[in-house]
Amino acid sequence: MERNLKELIGQMTLEEKAGMCSGLDFWHLKGVERLGIPSVMVSDGPHGLRKQDEKGDHLGINDSIKAVCFPPAVLSACSFDRELMGQFGDAIGREAQANDLSVVLGPGVNIKRSPLCGRNFEYYSEDPYLAGETAASFINGVQSHHVGTSVKHFAGNNQEFNRMSSSSNIDERTLREIYLPAFETAVKKAQPYTVMCSYNRLNGVFSSENRWLLTDVLREEWGFQGYVMSDWGAVNERVPGLKAGLELEMPSSNGANDQEIIAAVKNGDLEESVLDQAVERILHIIFKYTDNREDAEFTLEKDHALAARIAEESMVLLKNENVLPLKEDEKIAFIGEFAAKPRYQGGGSSHINSFRVSSILEEVKDRPGITYVKGFSADSDLYDEVLAREAIDAAAKADKAVIFAGLPDSFESEGYDRTHMRLPQCQNRLIEEVLKVQPETIVVLHNGSPVEMPWLSRVKGILEAYLGGQAVGTALAGILFGKVNPSGKLAETMPYKLSDNPSHLCFGDAENVDYNEGIFVGYRYYEAKEMPVAFPFGFGLSYTTFSYSNLSIDKEKIQDTDTLTVTVDVTNTGNVEGKEIVQLYVSDLTHAARRPVKELKGYDKVSLKPGETKTITFTLDYRSFAWYNTDIHDWYAAAGDYEILIGASSQDIRLTGKVCLCTDKMLPLKIHMNTTLGELSADPRTKEYGQKFKKSLDDFFGVMDSDGKTDDADTADSDDMGAAIAASMPLRNVTTFGLYTKEELQEMIEKLNNL
Ligand code: BGC
Repeated sequence: MERNLKELIGQMTLEEKAGMCSGLDFWHLKGVERLGIPSVMVSDGPHGLRKQDEKGDHLGINDSIKAVCFPPAVLSACSFDRELMGQFGDAIGREAQANDLSVVLGPGVNIKRSPLCGRNFEYYSEDPYLAGETAASFINGVQSHHVGTSVKHFAGNNQEFNRMSSSSNIDERTLREIYLPAFETAVKKAQPYTVMCSYNRLNGVFSSENRWLLTDVLREEWGFQGYVMSDWGAVNERVPGLKAGLELEMPSSNGANDQEIIAAVKNGDLEESVLDQAVERILHIIFKYTDNREDAEFTLEKDHALAARIAEESMVLLKNENVLPLKEDEKIAFIGEFAAKPRYQGGGSSHINSFRVSSILEEVKDRPGITYVKGFSADSDLYDEVLAREAIDAAAKADKAVIFAGLPDSFESEGYDRTHMRLPQCQNRLIEEVLKVQPETIVVLHNGSPVEMPWLSRVKGILEAYLGGQAVGTALAGILFGKVNPSGKLAETMPYKLSDNPSHLCFGDAENVDYNEGIFVGYRYYEAKEMPVAFPFGFGLSYTTFSYSNLSIDKEKIQDTDTLTVTVDVTNTGNVEGKEIVQLYVSDLTHAARRPVKELKGYDKVSLKPGETKTITFTLDYRSFAWYNTDIHDWYAAAGDYEILIGASSQDIRLTGKVCLCTDKMLPLKIHMNTTLGELSADPRTKEYGQKFKKSLDDFFGVMDSDGKTDDADTADSDDMGAAIAASMPLRNVTTFGLYTKEELQEMIEKLNNL
């Protein structure tokens, strides 16, 4: 149905228009009954519905409807599976339609900067490409049911401490390369109905009143067409916010901010057209939902089964020295309260009232040979001698021990950050004690973010279950007993210890959080530093093996307007069916800028029967090679060679190839008296001049030796020295030696800058 929104807005009073720009209550937008504008509801999200019928809150305190808790983002991102994320979104969209929700608040695409962020479990990855692709697939799935999403928290919300007031100070290049692209991809590939601005300030300006962010970048550059809503209580000053591009304030301000908008229009501080435009954007999305209602069908049971499948496809097998899968006839000791009471979701606004939870214990109750001992409490850090003794005895008597370890709820949540990266000490100690009597020990982890693993080299198996959603037990049983072949890979690096993390010295500050590590986040840092890590980005084992062959790159040279097609064959070389995640990284060999060793630019997941081979195809374009240049405020890739790396993880590169990028795009010349001869020589446009100046210097000094004399015997040496010294010499110094006059130089500089 075509609606004439402008005409409708023309019939609204100033009060009605101002009213549309904030919530009616905690979860509803206002409607205008006399004009047929309905009041619609929004709700958390994102890995299930937290629809509150009664008393609302944004911290997950009061009750919500019974729903399905799908795996939180920390786990589902490890599926590296666009199609699966689409099915996940499709289920959420259906559930939302059936529950009359116009927008589901999510997904959260903030980058995992530090393992300490209390809300990492709600975010996808340390890598913006993976986070963006995963989000876009999810959003397209939800919105295929004409239910909106709210991609959040835009932007720079990477810690929980002081999240409502601190300033994330991020330089332009880092923002563009690391913290914004997931949002950009979501907007460009999936056009979310709404975007939720973050609580924090970005470079000093609240996101809720940051015009650059909400209008210049989001709308004008990326083409966002929906409305921006505030995070719950993120509005600082309402009128500047509205002017900056924040259409909807949530929740209700009890009328206070509506009055400010009305007063600002009346006193001329706010043009009414700005208000009209905001209202139009909100109405557009309201009607997009209400004009397209569908009879969406869903059953909790079916979605529970999907939640199990997503968990199965995402859990990451980190270590397996011939201990998994478990065998039917083995005697196995299950240790740890998480086996009975799994931790499967995080705390805060995403907390779902699950209609059912499957624990591993319940799943294996009919299996002979399994004994369960509590060993430790899931929510405490106390080493209980009696519980521990029982566990050690059970482990000693069994063929294998599986310890279900993890972080208690209180260790990580929305609203605050972790203070360390350790498991509770009681669990680490128990693992050590069990290892003394049972070498065949496997640890299953339930956590929203990496933990230090002091026992890593001594246990035989590690399964990273992260937070598995309500069907966690089904997925664990499937993987542990081999009914399901694990196929998830890490969406983040697991460092050995917290202090290895690049943000370690500048995370968690109160007022100003300076992102000093810049673009070197996650594997981009560990690789550049050649720092060993516990488990690298993109890593995950399978019960089968895969080989890679026949890398083919369709062109040796590409123009900057071309796309490049890369294909590779993957073969299942083991005995069981399995899925492999194939990753494509690009490495810049031009050395035109300081860049990460390599960056993820493509991935695909493929299912293979034993012996089967499939060809995977990737498409790259100019952006795949580019970095963000702050002189031109745009993406830029220098002409030259780039390496294409195909890997099973970021550190397990199986095949490499090369492509040469041809481009006429050049960065503008900015030559001045302090430009060095080295800089002149490095640029093809000015190379000739750099060399000419250097030659003049050589002629002036003669080729010098370290003792200041010329010496034929080591001319090569002194040539290198002379070149190195000359490279750092600014142009102005050429005048010092009387080689050129200042006027001559200035004339040359002018000529060069106009090239
Ligand atoms: C969270 C949002 C959430 C909102 C509504 C806020 O505290 O940051 O992610 O959608 O509450 O519950």
